[in-house]
Amino acid sequence: MSKVIVSGGCGYIGSHTAVDLIANGFEVVSIDSFIRSEPSILKHIEHVSGKPFLNYSVDLCDKDLLKRVFLEHPDAVGIIHFAALKSVPESVANPLSYYNNNINGLCNLLEMMSEFNIQNIIFSSSCSVYGNVKTLPVSEESPIGRAESPYAATKQMGERIIEDFIRSEKGKNAVLLRYFNPGGAHPSGLLGEMPQKNISNLIPILMNAVSSQQANFYVHGDDYPTRDGTCIRDYIHIMDLADAHTRSIRYLLNSKNSNACEIFNVGIGEGVTVMEAIRATELATGLKVPYNIGPRRDGDVVAIYADYSKAARELNWQPKFDINDILASAWKWEQYQKQFSK
Ligand code: WQD
Repeated sequence: MSKVIVSGGCGYIGSHTAVDLIANGFEVVSIDSFIRSEPSILKHIEHVSGKPFLNYSVDLCDKDLLKRVFLEHPDAVGIIHFAALKSVPESVANPLSYYNNNINGLCNLLEMMSEFNIQNIIFSSSCSVYGNVKTLPVSEESPIGRAESPYAATKQMGERIIEDFIRSEKGKNAVLLRYFNPGGAHPSGLLGEMPQKNISNLIPILMNAVSSQQANFYVHGDDYPTRDGTCIRDYIHIMDLADAHTRSIRYLLNSKNSNACEIFNVGIGEGVTVMEAIRATELATGLKVPYNIGPRRDGDVVAIYADYSKAARELNWQPKFDINDILASAWKWEQYQKQFSK
């Protein structure tokens, strides 16, 4: 059974990918310091995967402790690197914590890859590397714009660091996955995005607005040059995103890549406005979404959605879900969690 080291394996995307990898016959070793997750997620992962889940509570910035993990698992065939801070507004308010955590953590991981001769890495990149784009949908050949937030800048730098590292090392391969906007939860309703202290992403905030029925949800601006004045994003179901990672590690293990470092957009090619997401939430839950219109948010791009034809062609990846499935699964998870908090 091929062993994959997953950094951030207890995070939102990491945990769903870990479950998908296990379901596809991989052995998973997670490294997660719980800076943005909590140990209670371990029982959800084990419940859904049906297997014990091994996590090392280690910060990637602690090279000594990180090395000890790799000493115990020198047989790993690849790394999937999720562990990073990912809130656009938080990165605007606290840029140094983003540069420190996201860049140092990546460099330490690449040093382990070199020292333990691990050949493959999948990197969690982001559509935010494109910045504000003129032409939609964006393909992997679309020009990289000015990063609109420190978070996006760490993803642009991360891509460049990996490209340079792979070029400097013999026989190493990388896939950079440019995620669009992940949302939703595992279809069982037993695994999803763990509640964060100050959530900034739209989907969990919509769920919270519906279940609390408190009018503390603000649409960040309705004066953008879009069909209804609100920002457009390409929301991708977390299970479609997890599937793209399993396909990517197989793609590298089977040497299907024609370049040592390949980039793929992972979005479903459908742009959805904030107002459309609100309406879809009301349809999915049968409840009203209380909201107010507020000012624009620093760091937001106006509109972005994916041309994912390269992933379809090379990874044989096809999204199976849309915004309605995302919201229905997110609502199922929200209700499941409410049982815990009673
Ligand atoms: C989406 C839209 C907000 C909250 C995310 C992740 C980032 C990266 C890219 C993967 C925007 C609007 C939100 C609210 C609102 N993903 N909004 N009121 O900023 O596109 O970035 O996707 O790598 O990690 O953060 O996503 O969910 O924060 O915002 O109006 O209370 O919803 O303005 O237009 P974003 P988001």
